[in-house]
Amino acid sequence: MMLIRQGTLVSAGGLRRADILVAGEHILAVEDAIRDDDLAVLRARHGLPNGATQIIDAAGLLIFPGLIDVHVHAREPGAEHKEDWHSVTCAAVAGGVTTVLAMPNTAPAVTDAPSFAHTLSLAQRKAVCDFGLYLGATNANQRVAEQAPDLGECGLKIYMGSSTGDLLVQDFEPQYEHFAHYPHDRVIAVHAEHEPAVQYFARRGVRRPPICAELETARAITLARHCERPVHICHLSTRREIELVREAKSRGARVTCEATPHHLFLTLDYELQSGARLSDDDARPLFQMNPPLRELADLDALWDNLDVIDCIATDHAPHTLEEKRSAHPPSGVPGLETLLPLLLTAASGEYGPARLGLADIARLCCEGPARVFGLARKGRIAPGFDADLTLVDPDAAWFIGDKAIFSKCGWTPFTGWRARGAVSRTFVRGRLAFDGQTVVAPPGSGRHVNPNG
Ligand code: DOR
Ligand code: ZN
Repeated sequence: MMLIRQGTLVSAGGLRRADILVAGEHILAVEDAIRDDDLAVLRARHGLPNGATQIIDAAGLLIFPGLIDVHVHAREPGAEHKEDWHSVTCAAVAGGVTTVLAMPNTAPAVTDAPSFAHTLSLAQRKAVCDFGLYLGATNANQRVAEQAPDLGECGLKIYMGSSTGDLLVQDFEPQYEHFAHYPHDRVIAVHAEHEPAVQYFARRGVRRPPICAELETARAITLARHCERPVHICHLSTRREIELVREAKSRGARVTCEATPHHLFLTLDYELQSGARLSDDDARPLFQMNPPLRELADLDALWDNLDVIDCIATDHAPHTLEEKRSAHPPSGVPGLETLLPLLLTAASGEYGPARLGLADIARLCCEGPARVFGLARKGRIAPGFDADLTLVDPDAAWFIGDKAIFSKCGWTPFTGWRARGAVSRTFVRGRLAFDGQTVVAPPGSGRHVNPNG
């Protein structure tokens, strides 16, 4: 048993000073103060053997439920030179993330039972945190859930617009059939950029302007409403999309959405903390991603409408610096290690007005993701839940880039940013995975999570 004493627990409902008792992989009790006599009572009540209780003093620390990042590119199989299942999950636990949901745009892509089984076996061998896997939609696999009903995927990802990899379902017919056929109690997650618009503007030298995202987000919502099924809009980036989601939700549509840290902290022209220009030629390819960075008004719209947003997800998309600086840079930036530090810093109010509170972080990175993806034992610190716990020193002041980067890509778009708040320990199902410096969990300790499982 493990007793974590005197930490400040953070939930969507607020903050509470409490002790947490962990037995094996689960949380056994959360109480104001658990004394030695209580331990004996709890042991007897739960039929647990007498034995040493490991005591962890968490006074002065914040304790979040382990963060759940619902949008991660693990790169394995196919691009292990920039990330693999071990490095991506090391980056996760170093960032306080205890569950990652991995996108299917690998090589080969995860689009059927054999490719799912292959990726699952790689992840099971190497992961140091828990993980889910998306199935990817193609123009031909509209019946994938009927053919392979028991994979336990976390959802179906549809690239309605093109991005890294070759998954693309841009035409009405296969899109409609996926929305109609994929089980209505599971989530379809969409990359919503309208491919004809993307191509039209590309021919004119303009990279994916807001109308591309707005058109396809409107289409995804319309399809979901028509089919009376849930849809999750990935990486919302514009004011208009926020309005569309707000309106759909107000009418009871089963629409959820996520925003990324890069769309919350970076704009097309400059990064928010220092005001450094991003528009010079050296920086531009590093900050290229799909959907791209936007204007300040869009960024403000995301912050001003956090209540409409269900999850903050990183879209952790590692590419090497060499690739990013090449003639044809790939799109995407890493994000797992900077997610929580950036949000803690934003909540601290230290380097600008506080744009969210600690409770918002728990809602957007823990409870919201667990709710949207049906992860019944995750996202909260309560008896019976998995003992996924992220301990944070709220006072630590440091510069991003100071600490070791665990992602194989070895860089972050936030290097040089001042951070207030650092992950001091990460537990995955009761096991210490990151001790503040080093990843201590062995490869293979991460487990596949099934929705509603
Ligand atoms: O910028 C992006 N990179 N957006 C995506 O949709 C995919 C991702 C990747 O896999 O590189
Ligand atoms: Zn992505």
